[in-house]
Amino acid sequence: SHRPTICYRPIQPSDLEVLERLHADIFPIRYEEEFFQSVVHARDIVSWAAVDRSRPNGHSDELIGFVTARIVLAKETEIGDLLIYNPLKPDQTLVYILTLGVVETYRNLGIARSLIRQVVKYASSIPTCHAVYLHVISYNIPAIHLYKKMSFKCIRRLQGFYLINGQHYDAFLFVYYVNGG
Ligand code: ACO
Repeated sequence: SHRPTICYRPIQPSDLEVLERLHADIFPIRYEEEFFQSVVHARDIVSWAAVDRSRPNGHSDELIGFVTARIVLAKETEIGDLLIYNPLKPDQTLVYILTLGVVETYRNLGIARSLIRQVVKYASSIPTCHAVYLHVISYNIPAIHLYKKMSFKCIRRLQGFYLINGQHYDAFLFVYYVNGG
């Protein structure tokens, strides 16, 4: 069978249509057009795409996985209190992972792991950054296993954090400390 050749690159404006379709297919939550525009134009959002160079017929540069993240000020987040607040460094930041997804036929090949590694490497390269964090819905076993396997720490369970079709679902908050936390 066909052997994938996975490469990682930034997300670009020509990815817009596929990025929107993958989010609609993969997530139970709807995202605004504004979000997709910010991703493809890298406005306040950093992102990485996975593509399979071995795909034929003009698909060799088409997204098969993605991760999107935002840099936030630590003191303005719900986990700002977990860092030792230093009044001499009010500019402490965190990287918040917004979305992560891999096309179904490409799962269990280590692509999500590689995408998360890119985010952690990026966060580590920012001297003011102390952690990468994210929320995951409590029934998402593959994602929870992935983050635990990558040494993220589950620090909170948030009751009813998500509202989907009128139903409330809990979220887990996962954190990975960088630059000494
Ligand atoms: N069951 C249990 N563990 C799993 C599963 C699964 N189905 N899939 C992945 N894992 C865990 C394993 O521990 C695996 O390590 P191992 O292979 O050494 O055992 C580890 O995750 C890494 O797996 P990858 O192959 O890198 O993961 P993959 O590329 O398949 O992507 C993902 C995982 C992103 C969760 C994928 O299943 C997906 O797109 N799901 C739908 C969207 C989603 O849930 N996104 C994350 C939401 S949280 C957020 O966006 C902030």
